[in-house]
Amino acid sequence: MSVTALVGAQWGDEGKGKIIDILAEKSDVVVRSQGGNNAGHTVVVDGVTYKLRLIPSGILYDNKVCVIGNGIVLNPKALIGEMNEIKASGKSLDGLKIDARAHVVLPYHIELDGLSEKLRGKGDIGTTKRGIGPCYMDKAERSGIRMCDFINPEIFAQKLKTNINIKNKIIVDVYGGQPLDFDTIYNEYTKYAETLAPFVTDASVLVYNAIKSGKNVLFEGAQGALLDIDVGTYPYVTSSHPTAGGFCIGTGIGPTLIDEVLGVCKSYTTRVGKGPFPTELDDEIGNNIRQKGGEYGTVTGRARRCGWLDLVILRFAVRVNGLTSLAVNKLDTLTGIDKLKVCVAYRKNGKLIEDFPVDISELEGCEPVYETLDGWSEDISDIKCYNDLPASTKKYIEFIENKLGVKVAMVGVGPSRNQNLIK
Ligand code: GDP
Ligand code: IMO
Ligand code: MG
Repeated sequence: MSVTALVGAQWGDEGKGKIIDILAEKSDVVVRSQGGNNAGHTVVVDGVTYKLRLIPSGILYDNKVCVIGNGIVLNPKALIGEMNEIKASGKSLDGLKIDARAHVVLPYHIELDGLSEKLRGKGDIGTTKRGIGPCYMDKAERSGIRMCDFINPEIFAQKLKTNINIKNKIIVDVYGGQPLDFDTIYNEYTKYAETLAPFVTDASVLVYNAIKSGKNVLFEGAQGALLDIDVGTYPYVTSSHPTAGGFCIGTGIGPTLIDEVLGVCKSYTTRVGKGPFPTELDDEIGNNIRQKGGEYGTVTGRARRCGWLDLVILRFAVRVNGLTSLAVNKLDTLTGIDKLKVCVAYRKNGKLIEDFPVDISELEGCEPVYETLDGWSEDISDIKCYNDLPASTKKYIEFIENKLGVKVAMVGVGPSRNQNLIK
C-alpha cells in the first residue's frame, strides 16, 4: 500500500500529467484536490494526446476511482465537455466521483475574472480567465454554491438568485459590464446538475476508507509551488494551495496519511502569466527552448516564458512541500545546448540569497548566480535506461540531487508514457 502526493515544483506545467499517468497504472484511486480548469495536464498514450483539465489523469485506465475533491472549483459546463471527450475516446467514466463540497464555477465568476483583469490594466495577473479567483473569493466569503446545493434545484435557485443580484450590481456598477440573466443561467445549469448528480458523493469518506483498506492512492497536484496563494509569488499566484498541504485540506484527510511527496519539475523553468522570473531568457536560447519544448499553454495557448533551471525555486519547493523525491522532465529539450547554466543562488546589493524571497519586490533586481555545466548533443529521447544517458546528462541530474539533497527518482526524455527513466 502507498499513498503518494505529486506536486508541481515550479510555476506549473512541469509535466505532472505525464508522471501521474505513469503512476496511475499502479494506483487504485487518483485524487485532484484543488484548482479547477485553469489546470491543463497533457498525457500522451500510444501517440494520442489527451488534455485533462478537471478529471484526474487516472481516467485513462480502466477500473480506477478518479476523485474530484472538495478543494476543487468545478465548472460544470467544462467538466461535462471533458467527460464527453473522454467518452468519445472510448474510455469509461464509471470511476469518476465528485465531492459534494466542491464549489461550482458559474458564469458570473468567469465574467468577473475577465472584468477585474481588464480593470487592472498593465497590473493584471495574467489569469486563465476561468473564474477561478472569483469562485474561491465566494468560498471564502461563504456565499459560494457547492455541488450539494447545485444538485438540489430549489436550493440552487435560491442561492443563484441571491448571488446574481449581488454580482450584477458589481458587474454593472463597479465594472460597467452587462448584467447576467438568472433564468438563462438557471435553465442551462440545472441540466448540467442533472448530468453530474450521479457522480456526487462524500469523497473524504471514500478516500479515507481506500487508504485504511490498503489501497494505493495517488494525489494529483495541479499548478505549482510558486503559484500557491500563501507561499507563492503573491499576488502573481492562483487562488488555492498547490503545495502538499493542499491535498489534506482539499480532500478532507489528515497529513499523517500521506507517505511520499514527489515533486515534478522541468530541466529548465517556465512560467505563464505575469510576475518576476529571475532566470528568464529573453534571447535566442529562450526562444529555442520554447520552440523545441512546445512551451505554449495547454489551457490558453499563451507562449510560456522560458529560462534556466533555478535551484533557489526548487529548494523552496523541497521545503514547502516536504518533497521526498523529484521527477525531472524534458531533459530532451535541452539537447544541443552547448553550455547549461543552473542558478544556485541570487545576489542582490552584494548579498547572497539562497532562500526564495518572501516578497516579489525583494525578488525584483535579484541577479541569478549561475554555475555552468556541459551540455550534450546526443538524441536522448529513445533511451530506456538511466545509465545509458550521456555522462553530461547524468552529471546535470546528479548536480540537482546534490544541491537539493533530494533524490531524483525519474527523468523525462519525451512526452510519452515510455519516455520516462527510473533512476
Ligand atoms: P502539467 O500541467 O504539469 O501536466 O504539464 P503540461 O501538460 O501543461 O505541459 C507539459 C508539456 O510537456 C506537455 O506538452 C507534455 O506532453 C510535455 N512533456 C512532459 N514530459 C516531457 C518530457 O520529458 N519531454 C518532452 N519533450 N515533453 C514532455
Ligand atoms: P497546471 O496544473 C501554469 C497561472 C496563470 C496565472 C495565475 C493565476 O497545468 O500546471 P488563475 O486562472 O489560476 O487565477 O491564474 O496562475 N496558472 C497556471 N500556470 N500551469 C497551471 O496549471 C496554472 N494554473 C494557473 O497562468 O499566472
Ligand atoms: Mg499544464
